[in-house]
Amino acid sequence: MTTILTIAELYPDFEHHLIQACNFSTSSSTLTQSMQYSLQAGGKRIRPLLALTTCQELGCNVEKAYPIALALECIHTYSLIHDDLPCMDDDDLRRGKPSNHIIYGQAHATLSGDALNTLAFDILSDPNTNLDSNTCLQVIAEIAKAAGYKGMVGGQALDLENENKSVSLSTLESIHRHKTGKLIEASVVSGALVATTNANTISTLRTFGQAIGLAFQIADDILDVTQNSQTLGKNAGSDLRKNKSTYPSLLGMKEAQKLLLTTHKKAIDALDRLGLPFTNLRNIADYIVARTS
Ligand code: IPE
Ligand code: IPE
Ligand code: MG
Ligand code: MG
Ligand code: MG
Repeated sequence: MTTILTIAELYPDFEHHLIQACNFSTSSSTLTQSMQYSLQAGGKRIRPLLALTTCQELGCNVEKAYPIALALECIHTYSLIHDDLPCMDDDDLRRGKPSNHIIYGQAHATLSGDALNTLAFDILSDPNTNLDSNTCLQVIAEIAKAAGYKGMVGGQALDLENENKSVSLSTLESIHRHKTGKLIEASVVSGALVATTNANTISTLRTFGQAIGLAFQIADDILDVTQNSQTLGKNAGSDLRKNKSTYPSLLGMKEAQKLLLTTHKKAIDALDRLGLPFTNLRNIADYIVARTS
């Protein structure tokens, strides 16, 4: 029986692994610093924590999921660097610090995002991971699809194309499920793939991941309106300024908050179907609804 670490224990462990993984140098010291700057700027680390705890709550040694956790944070950090660029959301504050391009310029911000994206697959395909090659390939396929045109990148494109337009609720849901939901779903599923081959377990956890992924972006939309920049560590009111459709703008705040709760319930219902405690996954789902940043 493996010990199940709490989120409070996993967080510093992940930071430790991340600092070790940041011990690289590239052909350009500016590129190296730019990559390390954004990776080490902090952040909630939700995606790595999801992968780590899904793995351990299915009875597998958490160490096995560390390459996945690191890869997910590399991809997520790259997406934030690009998301803040002037050609995208044009935001100058991220994780409580100046956005990457404010410090390193747009060209290096673009390149460090590119480099973090490929670093993720470098980490995952390293022969020294403790994963068997079949699991490794399944995880790579899952994360590549979630990050690329079928997932996050596709969602980001739709998000930009729909600025200054009033979109339908179903289009907004599709944007959110892709730009944010898919990588969160893949975080849960890839953690599960390390621990089990049971198709029902994996597909039920996928349902959980899809629900918390959508909930995460509904909450992000709400926080953009209700919190200030200091609490968020990023520019509050960014969606309004870029004239984006969001759940509060389409439904009103009250209905957006209701939808957040019903989406959270779908996530918890999925966990209930599996008959395991999943204490940390439940706590993360609750945190996604209750968070203030
Ligand atoms: C922000 O993600 C971008 C979205 C997908 C909403 P997070 O809220 O997870 O950002 P960090 O990692 O904590 O900075
Ligand atoms: C971004 O959504 C999702 C990403 C893939 C980065 P947002 O543009 O709403 O994220 P924030 O609010 O800037 O963190
Ligand atoms: Mg954006
Ligand atoms: Mg943004
Ligand atoms: Mg946002």
